[in-house]
Amino acid sequence: MIVGVTAESEQGERRVALVPAVVSRLADSGAEVLVESGAGGAAGFPDDDYASAGARIAESAAEVLAEADVVVRLAAPEGDADLEGLRDGQTLVGLLNPLGNAEGIAAVAERGASAFALELLPRISRAQPMDALTSMATIAGYKAVLVAADTLSKMFPLMMTAAGTVTPARVLVIGAGVAGLQAIATARRLGAVVHAYDVRPAVAEQVESLGGRFVELDLDAGDAEDSGGYAQALGEEFYARQRELLGRVVAESDVVISTAAVPGSAAPLLVTADAVGRMRDGSVIVDLAAETGGNCELTRAGEEVNAEGVTILGPLNLPADLPFDASQMYARNVSAFLEHVLRDGALALDRDDEIVSGALVAHGGQVVHPRVREQLGLAALEPQPAGTE
Ligand code: NAI
Repeated sequence: MIVGVTAESEQGERRVALVPAVVSRLADSGAEVLVESGAGGAAGFPDDDYASAGARIAESAAEVLAEADVVVRLAAPEGDADLEGLRDGQTLVGLLNPLGNAEGIAAVAERGASAFALELLPRISRAQPMDALTSMATIAGYKAVLVAADTLSKMFPLMMTAAGTVTPARVLVIGAGVAGLQAIATARRLGAVVHAYDVRPAVAEQVESLGGRFVELDLDAGDAEDSGGYAQALGEEFYARQRELLGRVVAESDVVISTAAVPGSAAPLLVTADAVGRMRDGSVIVDLAAETGGNCELTRAGEEVNAEGVTILGPLNLPADLPFDASQMYARNVSAFLEHVLRDGALALDRDDEIVSGALVAHGGQVVHPRVREQLGLAALEPQPAGTE
């Protein structure tokens, strides 16, 4: 069993999917690691470190793709060169954006390869060590605050100096999931006064345990949480009222970090241009939901917008700016997943296992995940017989 790693092709991507520290761990599961020369360089992992850990170095991506049984990536293959290397019998593992890029999954299936999209792992405790979305959102929440602090015209902490007292910055975090909670913790460490709002009232306690203040809005979110612990989409009437109520809190904030997300749906629009217009000059919004449309009306994905003195940032890949730790965390997630599906040096696809059935998106030449099929307008498949392939 050869697990192959190539350099990522997306512009600005500095992470690598496997790091030297997990090579011996995979060897214990019967897998040899084959790395494209230079793949870890931008993340701080030179070829020599992989070789010392027991990996083999390949001259090119084509060589890795020709030999590997399992190809591990961060993101879905981009462009023909990446795709053409995939073949029948090969398995691709990564954050493949299956619901945002269902056509990409269909292209992988057409090549005959199987694919696991780590975004679709169930949020159950057994799958926690494999949860790459959580790892990457943790990093994004942290980095979003640093970017905001660096852009803001004020300092974050309270400072009492001979030159007078500097009041602390006011940070509002919208959406207190993984990224939001990390943003709260980071902004608190920098000394800001932090407020946070989420439609799931259960998170109020977590917000407060991190030193944040939970914003109570006169809104009934009802059954905002699904059985998997994620938020569900709420009606437009709810969002309109939320925008109105939140507008007042936004206007009083120096920084807004918005992370509100409903899996598989566009990001809810929560911060209007009018609310931005009422913020002080020099304020900053970091919209982590930019990729799915943004929580702020003025966000432009991947760009910086200046609206009457307020800077609105819509970064798309903050974890790539911390490639060393992001690669280590991702590599540990992927290794945990591979250890789970490898038996005696071969892949074992146990369809009864919700980790396998949850993340498997392409197999046997077709797209197999019901939600991805739905996105592609394909009819549901017959239930697969139980057992391990
Ligand atoms: P999560 O699902 O853990 O958290 C999202 C939170 O938003 C949940 O707590 C949910 O209850 C809340 N929410 C949903 N609707 C809301 C509403 N109307 N008002 C207030 N809160 C609401 O998601 P996670 O992992 O924290 O990711 C957050 C966002 O950050 C996602 O859009 C994700 O794609 C993005 N992200 C961006 C990165 C980047 O570099 N730009 C990197 C990683 C994640």
